[in-house]
Amino acid sequence: MSGISFKRADFPPDFLFGVATSAYQIEGHAFGGAGRTHWDDFAATPGNVVRAEDGARGCDHYHRWAEDLDLIRDGGFDIYRFSASWARVMPDGRGAVNAQGLDFYDRLVDGMLARGLRPALTLYHWELPSALADLGGWRNRDIAGWFADYAQVLCERIGDRVWSAAPINEPWCVGWLSHFLGHHAPGLRDIRAAARAMHHVGLAHGRATEVMRGLGMGNLGAVCNFEYALPLTDSAEDRAAATLYDGIYNRWFLGAMFQGEYPADVLDGLGPHMPRGWQDDMATICQPLDWLGLNYYTCKRIAHADGPWPHLSEHVGNLPQTQMGWEICPEGLHHFLTFAQGYTGDLPLYVTENGMANPDQPDQPDAARMEYLNQHLAQAQRAIAEGVALKGYVIWSLLDNYEWALGYEKRFGLVHVDFDSLQRRPKASYLALKQALARA
Ligand code: FCB
Repeated sequence: MSGISFKRADFPPDFLFGVATSAYQIEGHAFGGAGRTHWDDFAATPGNVVRAEDGARGCDHYHRWAEDLDLIRDGGFDIYRFSASWARVMPDGRGAVNAQGLDFYDRLVDGMLARGLRPALTLYHWELPSALADLGGWRNRDIAGWFADYAQVLCERIGDRVWSAAPINEPWCVGWLSHFLGHHAPGLRDIRAAARAMHHVGLAHGRATEVMRGLGMGNLGAVCNFEYALPLTDSAEDRAAATLYDGIYNRWFLGAMFQGEYPADVLDGLGPHMPRGWQDDMATICQPLDWLGLNYYTCKRIAHADGPWPHLSEHVGNLPQTQMGWEICPEGLHHFLTFAQGYTGDLPLYVTENGMANPDQPDQPDAARMEYLNQHLAQAQRAIAEGVALKGYVIWSLLDNYEWALGYEKRFGLVHVDFDSLQRRPKASYLALKQALARA
């Protein structure tokens, strides 16, 4: 029988469940005086985004936030992981503050608290103000200072009431996906740009963390994404390629943030392209943190490829796939929960994103999503049983939303959104989770 196969009582009493969203993907960036972002520019450039869709309307969460918070409370969730938009708070990224923007996040946080939800803030989930992109964006070292100033403005207003905060969602996506692979804004394919972004994003993380500590905030963490790198074949060359892929994707930021050093195998390739004096920044990047959040979705098959460094190519294997074409590989979650402990020791870990896209129709049960969640929660339970300090699990996403370069057609939500009427309809997974999470 399909359905959700776990219940809250199967987890430790203090284990928390949550849902996640991000600002640009749901709010509607055309509303409330938000500034232009590099995602608006990227989407306006032919060929970058499916149907050239952007976040101008999103899910209209800017106006429907109260209904959306009700859904989270009614689903029985404990945590709401949300993000603030830099360009909504500071339309040009620095200088003038948009009062309406700060008021919006203030109301939103109060709305969470009024509903008994724990606000888990992310300060940056990818919508860089265009005015800063014009200055080189993540390639420019000054971004660390601009970001620290934004953190100060935002957290002076709401930092007293959030439950947790993390500066930057998925640094690998900010750095590599957006500046080396070119799949996300600003769409660069340039190793020098990538090396700089991969470094400055860590520096910005460190500087913002210092600012938040200075404001007296606690429960500060980092949210990184992880992809399980499996060699395409058993050849020594493919195994070496998978190890390097793992370094770029999974070890670069953990090494920097928790050990103050980058992995040597990745530095072999990126070293010549790093900004001068990068070594002096490592102490700032490596701030004491209170937790690590892991975003996990899939595995990737990696093979050796001729050509310039990093000499690798990505492939898809034979496991069942989601609507994204991502293989469903639950044991990868277990792998990373144990692997991360090598960096974080006893610090609490949270799964801060996990979930799947499925071509859902509102009147058909999303059985595939329930099975995906069952399989991944089983791996989480396995890790907990082995002593991993996993303290919570957050599902991506509350709502169907703007899935970046893939537009609005990839549905990750527990709640279906009709993008014409904007009507929200809970899917079968939402209703089953509500039962599973109900406190006895
Ligand atoms: C993650 C992002 C999130 C969403 C999911 C599917 O990489 O953090 O915004 O796009 O993937």
